[in-house]
Amino acid sequence: MGIGIVPLEQMDPLEDVLVKLYLRCYEGMEEYAYSAPRDVKRYLRWLCRRTPFSFFLAVKGDEPVGFLVADDHWEEDGETVGEIHEVVVAPEERGKGVGSALVQRALDHFREKGLKKVGLWVGRRNKRAKAFYTHLGFKEGDAKGKWIRMERPLE
Ligand SMILES: CC(C)(COP(=O)(O)OP(=O)(O)OC[C@H]1O[C@@H](n2cnc3c(N)ncnc32)[C@H](O)[C@@H]1OP(=O)(O)O)[C@@H](O)C(=O)NCCC(=O)NCCS
Repeated sequence: MGIGIVPLEQMDPLEDVLVKLYLRCYEGMEEYAYSAPRDVKRYLRWLCRRTPFSFFLAVKGDEPVGFLVADDHWEEDGETVGEIHEVVVAPEERGKGVGSALVQRALDHFREKGLKKVGLWVGRRNKRAKAFYTHLGFKEGDAKGKWIRMERPLE
């Protein structure tokens, strides 16, 4: 079955599913993620409020298997950039291009908004995610504690 990318229309009916998906995606990497369901719920609601039209779901049939949250009005170092707050893909769906398809959707969204740069913070020891972003043209920048900034221009 193919996987499609769709904007999240309403958080309420999917909230519990997305909380479970998030927790599953960060299993073994709790250092970089919320681990209490209540905190994940609060975080997802905050993401949804910030990005009403750019919270993208990867769906297989009706089932969410990943999501990406693209913020087109984020201030970083005094500059408005496209910020990827979150991207996760279910472990059994990884390595098939789902994460890349989500990022491409975010890049298209940021281009439509006229933004020139996209960035994100990634866990310093999250090797898989760093390799993933590097493959997509991001370069490592400053470190802040356990986080590393990665950015790329939007042509
Ligand atoms: C990071 C993540 C979103 C990648 O999703 P994915 O669907 O597996 O990514 P893709 O299949 O699109 O991979 C694209 C490219 O990234 C690179 N990549 C992906 N996984 C990799 C791995 N384990 N090791 C090295 N490179 C990897 C590959 O070069 C791959 O290129 P290819 O398509 O030519 O093989 C996923 O692994 C995940 O959910 N991780 C846990 C949550 C997380 O860390 N999120 C990032 C927070 S900042």
